[in-house]
Amino acid sequence: AGTGKFVVGGNWKCNGNTASITQLVKDLNKGEIDADVDVIVAPPMLYLPKVQSTIDRQFKLSAQNCWVSEGGAFTGEVSAEMLADANVPWVILGHSERRALCGESDEFVGKKVAYAIKNGLSVMACIGETLQERESGATQDVCRRQLQAIVNELSAGDWEKVVIAYEPVWAIGTGKVATPEQAQETHAGIRAFMASAVSQDVASKVRIQYGGSVNGQLQELAKQEDIDGFLVGGASLIGDAFITICNSA
Ligand code: G3P
Repeated sequence: AGTGKFVVGGNWKCNGNTASITQLVKDLNKGEIDADVDVIVAPPMLYLPKVQSTIDRQFKLSAQNCWVSEGGAFTGEVSAEMLADANVPWVILGHSERRALCGESDEFVGKKVAYAIKNGLSVMACIGETLQERESGATQDVCRRQLQAIVNELSAGDWEKVVIAYEPVWAIGTGKVATPEQAQETHAGIRAFMASAVSQDVASKVRIQYGGSVNGQLQELAKQEDIDGFLVGGASLIGDAFITICNSA
């Protein structure tokens, strides 16, 4: 397993409004999180300041995306500098929805990760295969290719600021959670790749989250050797469900 605390992210995606987010923050604030867990919530960009000013300090904040370089004439984007300036310490990058729906390439994601780190942000960097890729036996190749593009842009020391989120696309929002064995096998492959592509030291320290319909089989998943946390979508919108997930390790 990676070193450091179990790390759970809540990716709210493009969900919520003022009323529902106010309620969700209230529900989260009632929860008690085990001391040895890092918990990070990622509200939609527009609501970050509101959540920041109302959520308990046991929750760290993340954006769900940021721009690949210095801000400027990039309509609709938010830069890494702006997140740092607004005291948002984390950002999710390379989510499969952005790769698939917004056409983000491996190289683009790699550059985004590097630029975010250069600006002092920590990154949950997402990778993962589609169903077709899994069925054709390409799971490890896809994860390696996506990771290599990030490896190409970072120095070994940068990896302290990265959590790898393995999210098989076929498990996202489908209710089809990977089995603990499937997840563990892929996580072990990711760690082995990190050892060969970066260093044994980085491979042994980097934390690898599992994401994709996380809401059941929590203990089974959490106790796998190479699963160091979760990245949660749907269930992160339900206060008590998310707290249970946070405390599952
Ligand atoms: O980033 C989290 C995610 O993609 C998983 O979503 O709804 O399957 O938990 P969900």
